[in-house]
Amino acid sequence: MSVFICFLFFFLISSATACDRCVKQSKAAFFSKSSALSSGACGYGSLALGFSGGHLAAGVPSLFKGGAGCGACFQIRCKNTTLCTKQGTIVTLTDLNQGSQTDFVLSSRAFAAMAQKGLGQDILRRGIVDVEYKRVPCEYKNQNLSLRVEESSQKPHYLAIKLLYQGGQTEIVGIDVAQVGSSNWSFLSRNHGAIWDTSRVPAGALQFRFVVTAGYDGKTVWAPNVLPVNWKPGMIYDTKVQISDIAQEGCSHCDHGGWK
Ligand SMILES: *[C@@H]1O[C@H](CO)[C@@H](O)[C@H](O)[C@H]1NC(C)=O
Ligand SMILES: *[C@@H]1O[C@H](CO)[C@@H](O)[C@H](O)[C@H]1NC(C)=O
Ligand SMILES: *[C@@H]1O[C@H](CO)[C@@H](O)[C@H](O)[C@H]1NC(C)=O
Repeated sequence: MSVFICFLFFFLISSATACDRCVKQSKAAFFSKSSALSSGACGYGSLALGFSGGHLAAGVPSLFKGGAGCGACFQIRCKNTTLCTKQGTIVTLTDLNQGSQTDFVLSSRAFAAMAQKGLGQDILRRGIVDVEYKRVPCEYKNQNLSLRVEESSQKPHYLAIKLLYQGGQTEIVGIDVAQVGSSNWSFLSRNHGAIWDTSRVPAGALQFRFVVTAGYDGKTVWAPNVLPVNWKPGMIYDTKVQISDIAQEGCSHCDHGGWK
């Protein structure tokens, strides 16, 4: 009996704090320079400017998730229907918002994109608006999950990679690397943001496997041939796989208050 209560208690707590697809109410502000976001805590640099057409967002720690939230997509709309459209806009998380007044600080382009046609300047003049938002799958129609070898990498002792164009609505919770054809896997650790690294770098061409949250559980996505023998810092390599899974969560408490 007490085990059951304990389980129930755990379920209530975890479902109350970890439901990604819940529609949440908050406020949003904007950065006047989108470069503030592209140099953000996820480590994307200027590459971020190409995500969601420059619709970028800094999220509070519960959305940033110690870096696991980097690259996550959110649909966000402002609540004044005279000022804003019903569909709002889709933003990609590229930075951590340390402030406590708003869940998001958006790029000005994303902020203005929530407005009705012709009201972009009106919404920017407000500076801060009431919003609602929910996490949505990221869709990269013409891009696979890709790895950028970071400049800090030093063959053969150190490899740092940045994850780019991660589709779906999941989190990558583990990454392993091995020489192509070998089963001697080494794990990478999250360095910060979207950047993972290891000082045990196998020789030769490299394969990767990604552990992602999916369904109610996890799964492994295998990319059998990613880095060539002569991989180089600064280069972006296509993994030739893409993630389209949606992590399910027990969040019945929010399923009735949907996005209307
Ligand atoms: C909603 O936006 C319109 C247009 O900018 C404005 O006139 C109105 O006062 C706003 N309503 C609220 C409740 O803020
Ligand atoms: C496995 O790979 C690691 C890292 O590349 C290496 O140090 C180790 O010697 C390898 N072990 C075997 C049995 O090949
Ligand atoms: C993505 O990977 C597939 C193989 O899974 C490949 O055929 C395709 O060309 C890749 N797409 C891009 C844009 O590189």
